[in-house]
Amino acid sequence: MSVNMVAVASMATPSITISFTNSKSLSLSSSSSSSSLPSCWPSSNSTLRRHPSSCALTLRCGAAVFASSSSPSISPNSNSSSMIVAALGIDAQPERDYEPLQVMISGAPASGKGTQCELIKHKYGLVHVAAGDLLRAEIATGSDNGKLAKQYMEKGQLVPDHIVVMMVKDRLLKPDAKDNGWLLDGYPRSLSQATALKGFGFQPDIFILLEVSEDILVERVVGRRLDPVTGKIYHLKYSPPETEEIAARLTQRFDDTEEKVKLRLNTHHQNVEAVLSMYKDITVKINGNVSKEEVFAQIDSALTSLLEQRKAASGSVAA
Ligand code: AP5
Repeated sequence: MSVNMVAVASMATPSITISFTNSKSLSLSSSSSSSSLPSCWPSSNSTLRRHPSSCALTLRCGAAVFASSSSPSISPNSNSSSMIVAALGIDAQPERDYEPLQVMISGAPASGKGTQCELIKHKYGLVHVAAGDLLRAEIATGSDNGKLAKQYMEKGQLVPDHIVVMMVKDRLLKPDAKDNGWLLDGYPRSLSQATALKGFGFQPDIFILLEVSEDILVERVVGRRLDPVTGKIYHLKYSPPETEEIAARLTQRFDDTEEKVKLRLNTHHQNVEAVLSMYKDITVKINGNVSKEEVFAQIDSALTSLLEQRKAASGSVAA
């Protein structure tokens, strides 16, 4: 089969032609010199695995997903993973003979879960599923569930399971999470949620617990700001915005006050031991009091060794 596929482009990226030479192989050619491509862009004649049952093309470099489309159209994306792909009835995945990682990350409010998830996602290509983000998205729709969720969030309490549990389950069942692995942030937060997740068959490979002292947590909460345009998390002292323009548009979460974080901390303390008891064999405790780069180095080391074990196990099965 020789199919000339449509190109890939973003503002800073030259167009790229993807040609399938048979059912498993493809070649890539660029309209510009290779020096203008990202360093992790796949080399020519990369071999990608074809998914016969799907209609999308996902083009990845290493573990990082660069583009994905579920229909034969081009959808621009302006952030860092901003490659755009057209699909022609084929779902191409890089050769990978081991199961993708399934990671949980937990910790007190403002312990740095969201910040670390950005770094993990970037390096490992996992799909970030954050219970708090799903809830805030539900609130933004103005639905009854969203209104109810907001009442609990304003009090720093857990939103009832009948709202959260199915929301998270449905997100984890989406094909991107299944294909690329997932990074579950802020869930489960109670024994009942952990039990429900297990009942649905979701078993993490690792449970990362960020440990941060309480005075640092409060400082992180009150200084946190969000960029509504890029979704990036800032801190007025530790990760200040890069430009005046960004600084002017930053917003603060409605529950990011000193008073509310104390309520959220109480809720965390009431539940954390029960959740930990479910995952004690796979828990890795991380010192979250240090800089975000130092925190990531600890997590990266744990994930790298997990991945190496997995690859070795898969190699020994194949051999
Ligand atoms: P959620 O949105 O999950 O909030 P949270 O758990 O309180 O955690 P945060 O998002 O506040 O903090 P984070 O750990 O992600 O820290 P971040 O990286 O932003 O939940 C909100 C509410 O939704 C809950 O209270 C509850 O009501 C409800 N809810 C959520 N999940 C639920 C569930 N499963 N069941 C029921 N209800 C649920 O970092 C914080 C700040 O610190 C940032 O400014 C950042 O720049 C800075 N920072 C991060 N790391 C560092 C570092 N190493 N050094 C210096 N600064 C740092």
